[in-house]
Amino acid sequence: MPTLNDIRSSFLNYFEKQGHAVVPSSPLVPRNDPTLMFANSGMVQFKNLFTGVETRDYKRATTAQKCVRAGGKHNDLDNVGYTARHHTFFEMMGNFSFGDYFKSDAIPFAWEMVTKELDITPERLLVTVYHTDDEAVEIWKKTGVPEDRIIRIATNDNFWMMGPTGPCGPCTEIFFDHGEKYWGGPPGTPEEDGDRFVEIWNLVFMQFEQFEDGSRKELAAQSIDTGMGIERVAALLQGTNDNYATDLIRSLIEASADVTSTDPDGPGKTHHRVIADHLRSTSFLIADGVMPSNDGRGYVLRRIMRRAMRHAHMLGAADPVMHKLVPALVRQMGAAYPELGRAQPLIEETLHLEETRFKQTLDRGLKLLDDALSKLPDDAELPGETAFKLYDTFGFPLDLTQDALRERDRSVDTAGFDSAMAEQKAKARAAWAGSGESADLAIWFDLLETHGATDFLGYDTEIAEGQVLALVHDGAAVEALAAGESGWVILNQTPFYGESGGQVGDTGWLRRLENEDDIATVTDTQKMGDGKLIAHQVTVTAGRFAVADALQLEVDHGRRSAIRANHSATHLLHEALRRALGDHVAQRGSLNAPDRLRFDFSHAKALSPEETRRVEQEVNAYIRQNSTVSTRIMTPDDARAIGAQALFGEKYGDEVRVVSMGQQKGSGKGSDGQTYSLELCGGTHVRQTGDIGLFTLLSETASSAGVRRIEALTGDAALANLRARDASLSEIEGLVKTGGSETPARIKALLDERKALAGEVAQLRRQLAMSGSATDAVSGGETRQINGMPFVAQVLQGVTGKDLPPLIDEHKARIGSGVVLLIADAGGKAAVAAGVTDDLTGTVSAVDLVRAAVAELGGKGGGGRADMAQGGGKDVSNAAAAIKAAEAVMEG
Ligand code: ALA
Repeated sequence: MPTLNDIRSSFLNYFEKQGHAVVPSSPLVPRNDPTLMFANSGMVQFKNLFTGVETRDYKRATTAQKCVRAGGKHNDLDNVGYTARHHTFFEMMGNFSFGDYFKSDAIPFAWEMVTKELDITPERLLVTVYHTDDEAVEIWKKTGVPEDRIIRIATNDNFWMMGPTGPCGPCTEIFFDHGEKYWGGPPGTPEEDGDRFVEIWNLVFMQFEQFEDGSRKELAAQSIDTGMGIERVAALLQGTNDNYATDLIRSLIEASADVTSTDPDGPGKTHHRVIADHLRSTSFLIADGVMPSNDGRGYVLRRIMRRAMRHAHMLGAADPVMHKLVPALVRQMGAAYPELGRAQPLIEETLHLEETRFKQTLDRGLKLLDDALSKLPDDAELPGETAFKLYDTFGFPLDLTQDALRERDRSVDTAGFDSAMAEQKAKARAAWAGSGESADLAIWFDLLETHGATDFLGYDTEIAEGQVLALVHDGAAVEALAAGESGWVILNQTPFYGESGGQVGDTGWLRRLENEDDIATVTDTQKMGDGKLIAHQVTVTAGRFAVADALQLEVDHGRRSAIRANHSATHLLHEALRRALGDHVAQRGSLNAPDRLRFDFSHAKALSPEETRRVEQEVNAYIRQNSTVSTRIMTPDDARAIGAQALFGEKYGDEVRVVSMGQQKGSGKGSDGQTYSLELCGGTHVRQTGDIGLFTLLSETASSAGVRRIEALTGDAALANLRARDASLSEIEGLVKTGGSETPARIKALLDERKALAGEVAQLRRQLAMSGSATDAVSGGETRQINGMPFVAQVLQGVTGKDLPPLIDEHKARIGSGVVLLIADAGGKAAVAAGVTDDLTGTVSAVDLVRAAVAELGGKGGGGRADMAQGGGKDVSNAAAAIKAAEAVMEG
């Protein structure tokens, strides 16, 4: 009898022999779809190949794809455990053609696979086709299926769509007849929902693309997408019609019976089935980066986890059990899906944590439920308010309450639940509105309430697709942003990191999927709405971006890589400092930018050169160790208990990410192999410490009392810095080498060179000022007539007081006869100089002009000769008044 693992191999091998590339399953969280919650069929990862947007070096592929159907269009959660074939997680095997073969090959391939490779008796098979698809009927007949076994179906059952939009087409399905001992009729009959005839394979003839507005376009190339549920096929090959009786799932049921010391087939049978199914979906979701939360995908995961945990509770399990089942799952599926084994510790910890927490309220919640029911007439619905209280106070997702009620043949007033939820939101909003937060923050609160938190995909993805939920321009929600406009974009999901925890926000690009020439540049990313909304600050470069647009999201990879390196280096630096200076070293602030890192920490005195050297050396040693950087999720208390460093001033939720890197070695205290750095951190990091490349300290200074500040570089920036250091070293070495009496001569030469360069800089500054590009708008430097005398007045940036006299001379030469007043902005202070051509010194004196100007500029005095005088003041912002005062002197 073939095992499920055997069936998977024989499917992939068969199609490999037919020239198909064996492609690994894509992650459960789709990287290439803006609207889909989870991968729900094999074709998801190939969506862009069907539409022709993307091409790859193969035109035929075969996969075994992980699928979750527990949210969105295909949602099976409610039925799981109670039926023979519903799952939240299942594997779909498929073969795909991207504009290569079509119906006339796909059908014979499927027939050969089913009847020869899997050796299923043809007499037990039936096929359905879309009612208008005569071509498919003919091909089936030619392949050897008699006409009376081909059933035409006019409904959408034989027209497959991935979701509301995307590639779609008519399909043909293969059914297996489990025999008369099961009730049910062939497809198309009123009894088709029975258990006797079971669909095992769906062959979709991809011909169209469906759009948001309901319209359909013929695809440029006709393609094939098929999906065979491996669990169903395993069931029939193993002589059962119950997927839960197949080898793989049965082994999980037995593991569940084992850890709860109960009978796998006893009264708790349904509970074991729920647990076995939910163990698969939760473990695979966690392995693919989903974490339990109260929003979006994380909430779907939490709902599945808690549903399983309630069923474990009903089996009498006093302590958490789900995490104990993970090894059994890894044994079964770890070979086909290596990511499962890699994430095993994370899966176990996450399940343990969630179950521990949920258990604390489960008993009390169930008691409340029982009390409420006992007070109601037998057939009354549970009031929505009670269901909401269970949700709000005891962490019971609505479907968990429904599941609990189902066993008692009761239901819940879901409308009442919804209105209780709406009421609570309104209250929260009123409380927030009265909290004194400024009005421009209200918009983010509103958006958060309407759309929920943004799903962050960016820990391991830098390119993804997302859908525009809202646009903000000048503090108000708008429908669209046009080319040239700037504003904020809120998406349902994003790989862009919003500035937090010292790490700067990502930059990059947004492109409209419908027209990739429409581009918005992301100049910054911030967290808004209580840190839950990720807001992209954009300028639309071309096209128009509107709410509901589907976008391609691309983080600036080079910049993000540099940020990752700096952030990870900061963790190593923190630990190296603690080890070099003592446990009092605590983080007081940090900046992780692409070009540098800054780390502030508590320590009373400057580091000695020896300490600095040790720290730099240790960080580099752990970089060279090239150990894997790993992430786990735990409660803040557990994290602290294992010695993780918490960040100063950070707000921590119920769960924290703990980032660890480096394996200790050679400390001689029996600590070999222990983790070097453990820190609570929500930021993005390198995969291996070696990715940091190189680390150099730039400076170590005082930041404030008792706080030191280190600035450092990594990667290319560190290398450039070392080269610069090297260049000045060779210069000094050069000096030393020339030795003896030559040295003073060499130094003199360098000093002369410096003087010449300084002269050149001053000259350039003057040129800049004269060219007008350095002038302030105050007067624009034009010549005006005051009391019959030509007068030029200018406020100059980028020049110093010393530059003014030569500039005065140049102006005098230019105008021939007249008065010049120049004010230099020296970082807020003012330097002022006045010049009068010789022919006018009898009428007005430069000294008087300067004195009048200086008084306005908040200075005192000023002096010189009648043709040239100078002075200074504290406040250049009064320059306009100073010029007026000089004009008054000229007016006499
Ligand atoms: N994509 C098709 C399905 O899921 C094959 O049934």
